[in-house]
Amino acid sequence: MDEPSRLERYVTELFAVEDPILAKIRARHAAENLPPINVSPEEGKLLHLLLLSIQANRVLEIGSLGGYSGVWLARALPPTGKLITIEKDPHHASIAREAFKAAGLEARVELIEGSAIELLPTLSSGFDAVFIDADKEPLPKYFDWGMRLLRRGGLLLCDNAFFHGAALDQNDRSGSALGVRAFNELAANDPRLVATIIPVRDGLVVGLKTRDGA
Ligand code: SAH
Ligand code: DHB
Ligand code: MG
Repeated sequence: MDEPSRLERYVTELFAVEDPILAKIRARHAAENLPPINVSPEEGKLLHLLLLSIQANRVLEIGSLGGYSGVWLARALPPTGKLITIEKDPHHASIAREAFKAAGLEARVELIEGSAIELLPTLSSGFDAVFIDADKEPLPKYFDWGMRLLRRGGLLLCDNAFFHGAALDQNDRSGSALGVRAFNELAANDPRLVATIIPVRDGLVVGLKTRDGA
């Protein structure tokens, strides 16, 4: 991931200081050679705040990696709340499980190992928020699943809205760029959503599902 800018560092140092548990999770990431594509501290803080603002209880994450964003998300839930997080890579999944344990969040987090497209149909709807942060090509499908699984008043959240600028580059016809662009267009135009992109890190789509329906 790109180095944080001076402005991002300013925000992080003021508002998103990591406690030793989060710092340790990131150190473990590096030691285990996981790709450095976890959310940044200020994006983690924003996700945390967004969940608190709707008093979220039941949250879905697609793409756990080493559990860094998951800890920010799960910490916003009450002790009886539940984060379900999906991860297809067994190595990532085992590091993430360790992270949730180290953070004392085992009871609040259920990691399901497997491919998102196979697992999404097994979940029941009524989520307060869905955070999408996995592979980019299937993003239009994740959009549909997110909308189906969210309750009215729930938040649709999706990382990498800019995808390092690829979203803006009409000449980039890669599967990932097409997926990101399609997701953003769906979020912008779906009458059930009020949405925007917050330009934090690589862009975060934030949509409030204000209406039900197909
Ligand atoms: N949310 C994490 C970062 C996720 S990185 C954080 O901020 O800390 C993306 C993750 O999605 C990787 O661990 C990758 O293995 C996983 N992934 C990619 N494609 C997937 C798929 N189709 N199903 C489930 N997980 C997937
Ligand atoms: C990349 C970054 C991400 O945050 C992500 O979810 C997937 C890929 C990347 O930099 O390639
Ligand atoms: Mg991401």
